[in-house]
Amino acid sequence: MRVLSRDIVGAEGKEVELYGWVDTRRDHGKLIFIDLRDRSGIVQLVFPAESGSVSGGNPKNRVELYKLADTLRPEWVIKMSGKVQKRPKGMDNPKLATGNFEVLAETLEILTQAETPPFDLAGDGYGIGEEGRMRHRYLDLRRSRLQANLRERARVIKFIRDFLSAKDFVEVETPILGKSTPEGARDYLVPARLHPGKFYALPQSPQQYKQLLMVAGLERYFQIARCFRDEDTRGDRQPEFTQLDIEMSFIEQDDILNLIEELYIALIEKLYPDKKITEKNFPRLNYAETMERYGSDKPDLRRGENNPNELAFAFIVDFPMFEWRDVEKRWDAVHHPFTLPKVKINSKYQAPNSKQFKEVFKENPAEILAYQYDVVLNGYEIGGGSIRTHKPDLLQAVFEAMGNKPGDVKEKFGHMLEAFEYGVPPHGGIASGLDRFVAILQGEPNIREVIAFPKTGDGRDLMMDAPAPVEESQLEELHIKIKNTTGDE
Ligand code: AMO
Repeated sequence: MRVLSRDIVGAEGKEVELYGWVDTRRDHGKLIFIDLRDRSGIVQLVFPAESGSVSGGNPKNRVELYKLADTLRPEWVIKMSGKVQKRPKGMDNPKLATGNFEVLAETLEILTQAETPPFDLAGDGYGIGEEGRMRHRYLDLRRSRLQANLRERARVIKFIRDFLSAKDFVEVETPILGKSTPEGARDYLVPARLHPGKFYALPQSPQQYKQLLMVAGLERYFQIARCFRDEDTRGDRQPEFTQLDIEMSFIEQDDILNLIEELYIALIEKLYPDKKITEKNFPRLNYAETMERYGSDKPDLRRGENNPNELAFAFIVDFPMFEWRDVEKRWDAVHHPFTLPKVKINSKYQAPNSKQFKEVFKENPAEILAYQYDVVLNGYEIGGGSIRTHKPDLLQAVFEAMGNKPGDVKEKFGHMLEAFEYGVPPHGGIASGLDRFVAILQGEPNIREVIAFPKTGDGRDLMMDAPAPVEESQLEELHIKIKNTTGDE
C-alpha cells in the first residue's frame, strides 16, 4: 500500500511503497541517491551498487536495481518499495522534514519518463521569465512555493466558508451568463446563439444577483465568486479573479465592518499565527482626511520597517458618491449606482429621500458622500462595499443623476426597480478581493502567484493558447462576422 514521504519519519525497519517524481539524483559511485518528491514532501532513496554494501536482499536484484536507478532522470515518475532506515551519523539533512531517514530500495518501477523541464523547478522561480512559466504552468506549479500557495489559499477559503456558515450565512451560486452590471470596467461578452445579435455579459461581480437574493429573503448571503473584468492586467489585477462576496439585510454599515474585522482577525490568528496585526480595532478613516494626509485612499499603515509579518488593516469610509467623467461629460458613481448617498440635512449627514437628493445634486454633486467603504491592507485595496439604496424612487433619481434617460434606466435596471416594488429589506454588503488577500498573506508580490492558472500581462493563457480563433461554422451559428483580421494576435 502506498505511503507518503512524510510517513517515513520514525518508521525505521518498516517496508514501504512510495510513488512520486524524481526530484534530484546524486551519484556517489557506489551509491545512487534519489530524492523522491510527492505531495507531502521529499524523501531520500538509496540504491547501492553492490550487494556487499548492504545486508539482506537478493544480490542479483541489487545489481539490476542499481542499473535501473542509474537511468533515472529528474521529473520521471516512479514507484518503488524498500525499507526505512535511519541515515548514518553525519548524513542527516536538517532542511528536510524526513532528513533523519532514508529508504533503502528493494524494487523500482518507472511509471513514466519525462523530458528535461524547460526551466529549473527548484528554488522560488521569481527570476524565470513569465512566458516560460505560463506556457508550462503545470511544471511551474510543481515548485514548493506554488504548491504551498495553492494549499494555503484552499485553507483560507475553507476557513471563510466555515466561519460564515456558522453565522447563518448561505452560500449561493449566481449565474456566469448574465446581464452587464456596472462596476466601472469593460464587460466580457458572450454571443447568444439562440438570440442572434444579443449577448450575455460575464459578471464583473454578482452585485445585482446578491441584492435580488435580499429581496428573496435570504438575509445573509455569501459566495466565493468568480468575477470578470476586461481591463488591463497588472500585479494586483487579473481579468478573471475571485471575490469573497457578502450581502446582508437589516443591518447598518458598522455591522458589515465589524463582521469583516472579526473574520480577518480570526482567520489570521488560526492560519497565520506568526503574523502581527498592527491594530486589532481596524482604524476607520475618513476618505477626505486620508487623501489629505497620505495622498492615497489605500495608505500603507505598517509601522515596523522591514517587517514581513506585519498586517496593517484599515477601513476607509465616507467616500464621495460621484466623480466627474471628463470624456463623457457626466457624473458617475465612484463605487456603483446601487450605493446609498449620504447628504447633509440640517447640518447632519444622512440618507436623503429622492426630493432631498435631487436638490443637493442640482446644487453641488461633489458634496454628496456615500455609505461606502473600502478595506485596505498594507497599501492594497482588498475589499469594498456599501449600504444600498433600497427605495425605488431614490434609486431612479441616482440613475438619472448619472446621465441615464428614464427610458434607459428602465431598460438597464428595470428588473431591479421592479423587484424593489415587492417589499425590499434595507441591505448592504461587501466584496473582498480574495487573490489580493492571499497574495499578501503569502508574502507574494503579484496575485498570479496565488492563482493556479492566471493570465499574462496582456490577458493570454499561454498554456492553452487562449484567446484563439474559432471555426467559421461556429461563427456562423452565432451570426457573427469578423470584420477585420490583423493576423493571429
Ligand atoms: P469592487 O469593484 O470594489 O466592488 O471589488 C471588490 C474587490 O475586488 C478586488 N478586485 C480585483 N482583484 C483582482 N483583479 C481585479 N481585476 C480586481 N478588481 C477588483 C479588489 C476590490 O476591493 N460589487 C462590489 C462590492 C459590493 O458593493 O458589495 C464590487 O465588486 O480587492
